[in-house]
Amino acid sequence: MKPILISGIQPTGKLHLGNYLGALKNFVELQDSHKYNCLFFIADYHSLTEVFTPKEKVRQIMNLALDFLATGLNPKKSIIFQQSAIPAHTELAWILNTITPLGELRRMTQFKDKSESAPQNINVGLLTYPTLMAADVLLYDASFVPVGGDQLQHLELTRELARKFNARFGKTFIEPKPLMTDVPRLMNLDNPMKKMSKSLPQGCLFLDDSPAGIKVKIQSATTDSGKEIKYDEKNKPGISNLLLIYSALSGKTIKTLEKEFLGFGYDDFKKSLAEITIKVLEPFQKNKKELSKNLGSVKKIIESGNKKASEITNKKIAEIKEKIGFLL
Ligand code: AMP
Ligand code: TRP
Repeated sequence: MKPILISGIQPTGKLHLGNYLGALKNFVELQDSHKYNCLFFIADYHSLTEVFTPKEKVRQIMNLALDFLATGLNPKKSIIFQQSAIPAHTELAWILNTITPLGELRRMTQFKDKSESAPQNINVGLLTYPTLMAADVLLYDASFVPVGGDQLQHLELTRELARKFNARFGKTFIEPKPLMTDVPRLMNLDNPMKKMSKSLPQGCLFLDDSPAGIKVKIQSATTDSGKEIKYDEKNKPGISNLLLIYSALSGKTIKTLEKEFLGFGYDDFKKSLAEITIKVLEPFQKNKKELSKNLGSVKKIIESGNKKASEITNKKIAEIKEKIGFLL
């Protein structure tokens, strides 16, 4: 049996290049390596922790399903499903809540960041977000979880909860390991000291951006003093971030790129980066447009994934309930 791999993304808005280079691109490569049994899902329950309207939510969910398929996730190779269609996720999350120390959740970086950036909406879901995430992973006996660097802390808690549950109720869960790309933390184009995130949309390159929009954003990306194209995270964070993007999109190493652009200025480098970004995103955007014409078939793909995921989780949640003494 191949090891199981799972990851999810929240349907909260348009995906950006950080989501792509930190996570989604890796999902497709891992799927296509045929080394794992892969599951990818739309983390819609998690997304309720941020402000939304029902009209927006239904669009965001469909848009993420389109993004999954347009980047190359393939229902013939992976199980693609919607978290809220599988009741066992929230059932296990509740059980895990009861073995999770409150202090650990309070100390989570994401909880602190989100509480700070949206003080009017510090809901309990934001606090217990990591236990639902642990449930998502542990339910499937996943060994690997591809994510960006911002999720490592949540995965560490997942491992801890697996150990704790196993120690108390007998071996039930596998401790999952994270899988990261070379770009676990892509920075904002306008402010390379902050991570690229939709909460700062100006410096965000969205996967749906038009070629003209991409050119403008890359041309106006913050660069540093000096004029050399050289990787130096400390003294040249702007150009280093752009080099990382260039390297991830082209497959060339940063060393090779430094050599290629020796003697060229920031302007030439940015022009070339814009070109390659447009070229890489073109097939994605074309696929997405095609898929959008037949939303019925996208829905069917998700429904079929939901069925497969339910079969797995029905068994697992029964095992869990038996372990904790719920089955008469
Ligand atoms: P989210 O939209 O928060 O559900 O994130 C989806 C995935 O993208 C997660 O695996 C994140 O870790 C990853 N991600 C988000 N922002 C970045 C970034 N700036 N750099 C790298 N990965 C990111
Ligand atoms: N918390 C993840 C993020 O913000 C999304 C997510 C939810 C997830 N459940 C998961 C990722 C389980 C991996 C595994 O990116």
